[in-house]
Amino acid sequence: MLDTRFCPEAKINAKINYKFIIKKIEVIRQLLYNKSVIYLTRLFLIVFFPHTDAGAVANAPASFCGKIIFIYHYLRRIRMNIAIDGPAGSGKSTVAKLLAKELSFIYLDTGAIYRTMALYCVRNNIDPKNEEEVSKAVPSIDVKVDYVNLEQHMLLNGKDVTGQIRTPEVSNATSVISAYSSVRDALLSMQRQIAEENDVIMDGRDIGTMVLPNAQCKIFLTASVGVRAKRRYDELLEKGTKCELSQIEKEIEERDYRDSHRKIAPLKKADDAIAVDTSDLSIEEVTRKLKEIAEGKM
Ligand code: DC
Repeated sequence: MLDTRFCPEAKINAKINYKFIIKKIEVIRQLLYNKSVIYLTRLFLIVFFPHTDAGAVANAPASFCGKIIFIYHYLRRIRMNIAIDGPAGSGKSTVAKLLAKELSFIYLDTGAIYRTMALYCVRNNIDPKNEEEVSKAVPSIDVKVDYVNLEQHMLLNGKDVTGQIRTPEVSNATSVISAYSSVRDALLSMQRQIAEENDVIMDGRDIGTMVLPNAQCKIFLTASVGVRAKRRYDELLEKGTKCELSQIEKEIEERDYRDSHRKIAPLKKADDAIAVDTSDLSIEEVTRKLKEIAEGKM
């Protein structure tokens, strides 16, 4: 069973992003003066939400009160989604986290969700290469996303496994099982639900192409294999994990190949995504660049 939980703290602590709110109000102002949009919206609400507050809004006369309720619902419904895709080590998660802080958005690292699934397989001696066995296990894997002090934590069957999902063994198993439709299907609605309920920056491989094809802002990050391997190497060394740079480079090449050649949801730049090469840029430079792009789409 898959579920999501959000720390109310994440929302309470978030600074108000005035620029985005002003943009929302401007969109609503324009909508309120566009009668055909109002009538179409009402028709939609009556048909699809007849028993909800939205239905009440639809039936409300075009009075001041009706408009206020309409605005309230509209404000709640517009969510800004930023999709960041790219290969392993392109700097997605580091930059997405910083950007989320700056924009007061929630950050969702979708790779961590796939990694948690893979950890279950590793722990339960399920061969990642055996698709049938993995698919059979999927319904019994309980993966939850939680936020502690605004940091994403992964829970596997109720236990926090955030610190255990980044080992080379889990990385390789993740790359294999994430190619299976049973795994991807199980995680798709979870990711979309999070995007529907929050202003979110989501990073992964297929966010712009598959998970959030209507995201207002799509970015595709790249960097050379050598640079990405060195980044991963430094990251692992910092955590005290012994490793060989050449081995990491080889593994990254293999994962790149698997991620971009799989049949389902391969790693691919969405047609409307903006490509950013991070090879020669610092984290601060990439964050600044992405912030400019995101603000331009608000
Ligand atoms: O971003 P990462 O390196 O933590 O991702 C781990 C693996 O998960 C990677 O090999 C590809 C897979 N993945 C995916 O298939 N789709 C996503 N949206 C995110 C990750």
